[in-house]
Amino acid sequence: MARFARTIAHTPGCPKKRNRAAAKTRWTLRRGGLATAAMTAIDPIVWNDWHPVAARCTLDPARAHTTVLLNQPLTIAIDGAGTITARRDDGGALHQDERYGLVWVCLGTPDRPVLVIAEADEPDRPAVVVGAVAVRAAGPRVIENFLDLGHLGYVHAGYLGDDPHTRVLPYSVAALPQGGIIATGCRMYQPQASPAATEGFDVEYVYKVERALITCLYKSNPLHRDRFDVIYLFVQPVTETTSVAHPLLLCLPDGTTPQGLRAFQQTIFLQDKPILENQRPARLPLADGADTPIAADKSSVAYRRWLSAIGLTWGVIPAPAKAARAA
Ligand SMILES: [Fe+2]
Repeated sequence: MARFARTIAHTPGCPKKRNRAAAKTRWTLRRGGLATAAMTAIDPIVWNDWHPVAARCTLDPARAHTTVLLNQPLTIAIDGAGTITARRDDGGALHQDERYGLVWVCLGTPDRPVLVIAEADEPDRPAVVVGAVAVRAAGPRVIENFLDLGHLGYVHAGYLGDDPHTRVLPYSVAALPQGGIIATGCRMYQPQASPAATEGFDVEYVYKVERALITCLYKSNPLHRDRFDVIYLFVQPVTETTSVAHPLLLCLPDGTTPQGLRAFQQTIFLQDKPILENQRPARLPLADGADTPIAADKSSVAYRRWLSAIGLTWGVIPAPAKAARAA
């Protein structure tokens, strides 16, 4: 999964109440007319989609936040009244929204809103923004790593897996009706599944990829065995081979403080970072056979094929056209 080159400090009170207030603020178009995909060579799939660019709780009225989205430098400012303004440094247009404690920007023409997360409205799930994680890896690589069950027992040994419980048991992958994929029936013995876990147990997972650079997992909670914790990973595409990950925790109450949840996830992310940043090629290859998948990679294979089917070109090495392959 993600990494921690830059960890944000947390300001108490960031999550839910502000999320709801922010949700009332609909899309805001900043400056001029609409920027369209025709004005840029950047993949319209990512150009016309929403991406997180900052967490509200990290913004400081005394100092504007600067970042980059799809090669475009941005400045995010908050005033003393809490009003947030996102601007392109080149004066180009953008759309702005705020959801889940995060500022979202669309540089093109959005044809749908920021992803709706039903669990974010459940009253006993505080939304915890983990922090912005800069990673020298392509966005699709970051998503694929999040889906990878096979690395849990090795990269996260002692936490999310452990020897000899490294075998990935068979699981199912299907297409989501609205686009994307879902992996169900995933199980893994975990010695420390969460900060609240007092003993190891077989954890059940469900993974979803609903948009090209958004994924989430549903994971057994050690105290609420009939419900799932939910962890989202939103990836901000900076350049084609660099990203910022914005994880969001929607966990059930189990006595763990937001600080404890955040620290646990940061530990996990730090373990992922060097693995992810050393993957080659930097862009995710989509051609069947580009890598040698094993059964445990079923969700990865499905993700790559779905990206290929929708025609994503950002951060990937597209598969050769069928006609070219047949020639
Ligand atoms: Fe990981």
